[in-house]
Amino acid sequence: MILVTGGAGYIGSHTCISLIEAGFDIVVYDNFSNSSKKSLQRVESIVERNIPLVEGDIRDKEVLQDVFDKYDIDSVIHFAGLKAVGESVQKPLEYYDNNINGTIALCEVMRDNGCKKIVFSSSATVYGDPKSVPISEDFPLSATNPYGRSKLFIEEILRDIYVSDATWKIILLRYFNPVGAHKSGLIGEDPNGIPNNLMPYISQVAIGKRDYLSVFGGDYATNDGTGVRDYIHVEDLADGHVKALENIDKFDGVKAINLGTGQGYSVLEVVKAFERASEKKVPYKIVGRREGDIQSCYADPSYAKKVLDWSAKHGINDMCKDAWNWQSKNPNGYGS
Ligand code: NAD
Ligand code: WQD
Repeated sequence: MILVTGGAGYIGSHTCISLIEAGFDIVVYDNFSNSSKKSLQRVESIVERNIPLVEGDIRDKEVLQDVFDKYDIDSVIHFAGLKAVGESVQKPLEYYDNNINGTIALCEVMRDNGCKKIVFSSSATVYGDPKSVPISEDFPLSATNPYGRSKLFIEEILRDIYVSDATWKIILLRYFNPVGAHKSGLIGEDPNGIPNNLMPYISQVAIGKRDYLSVFGGDYATNDGTGVRDYIHVEDLADGHVKALENIDKFDGVKAINLGTGQGYSVLEVVKAFERASEKKVPYKIVGRREGDIQSCYADPSYAKKVLDWSAKHGINDMCKDAWNWQSKNPNGYGS
C-alpha cells in the first residue's frame, strides 16, 4: 500500500489516478487545507473504485500512526505542503511549521513503523537563480524565499536521515512548472482567489473572469523579453511518480531527479499557445518585473530518462488544451 500525503491536491489527485492505473493500492492522507474532497470523488469516478482516505494533518503523529496501524504501508509519496511563494514571505513560521515539522513528523512515524521509502515533492525553486540553463541536478542549490527554503531544508533533512540509516530509499523529485489537467476535464488546478501562477491566470482571462494578464517584465534577455520556464503537463508529472516508485528499490542513496520537459517557453509563447488551444483572446499588458522572478529556468531532463526511463510526452499545445478543457468545464473550479 502506498501512502499519498496531500493526495487531494492538484498534483496528488492526478498522481492517484496514475498510481491506480499502474496497479498500486493507495491510501490518501490530507487535511484539505488547500483542496476539496470533490477532487477525490472525481478521481474515484475516473478510476471506478473507492479510494481509502484519512483526513488528518501530517504534523499529527497520532493520526498518522493510526494509518500505519490500519494499513500495511510500503512507501510514501509526500505531496503535503504549503506552496505559495508570496504567502510564505508573509507567513514564514506557518510555512516552516507545516512543511518542515510536517515532514519530520511523517518521517518519524515512518521510521517507527519500519517504512523507509519516500518520494518527496521538491521543486526547481531549489536551484535559485541558476548560473545557466538547462539546469542539471548537480547545479548549486539556494533559496530566495521561505517556501523554497523549506524545500531545500527538507532535502537536507532527508539526506541526513539516509546518512544515519542507509536502509532508507529516498527520491527527491524536482518539478519544474506543473500545468494542465486530466484529459477528462474532471480534475485540475483550483487556486484560491487571484491565481499567482501563469497558466491558471491565463485560463481565467480566457474565460472572462479577469480582464487581462499582467506580463511581469518585457525586458529580460530572452527571445521576446518575457520570462522563460519549463512547463510540464501534470499527467507527465504523475507518471514520473509511478516510475520513481517502480525504480526506488534499485537505488542507493538519495536521488534528486528533475522532472521537466527540457523545453523553455516565454510568457508570450504560452499566451499564443493558449489562444490557439482555447480559440479565445487573452489580452495582456506588459508591466514591471515581479520581485524574486528569474529570467530563465528549464531542465536538463536527461537524468530522469537515464534512471527512471521517464520523459515528458505532452507538449505545450496539450498543456493548454487540457488546462482550457478543465477551466471551461469548471469555471469556478470544484466550487462550480
Ligand atoms: P496543492 O496545494 O494542490 O496540494 C497539496 C495538498 O497537501 C493539498 O491537498 C493540501 O490540503 C495538503 N496539505 C497541505 N498541508 C498539509 C498538512 N499539514 N497535512 C496534510 N495535508 C496537507 O499543491 P500541489 O500543486 O499539488 O503541490 C504538491 C506538492 O508539490 C507540494 O509539496 C508543492 O510544494 C510541490 N510543488 C508544487 C509545484 C507547483 O507549481 N504546483 C511545483 C513544485 C513543487
Ligand atoms: C511563470 C512565468 C512569471 C503570472 C512558481 C514558484 C516555483 C514553483 C512553480 C512550486 C514567470 C510570469 C506569471 C502572471 C506573468 N512552485 N507570470 N504574469 O514563478 O516560475 O514558479 O511556480 O515549487 O517555486 O516560484 O511560476 O507560473 O508564477 O510564473 O507574467 O500573472 O510567468 O513572471 O516568468 P514561477 P509562475
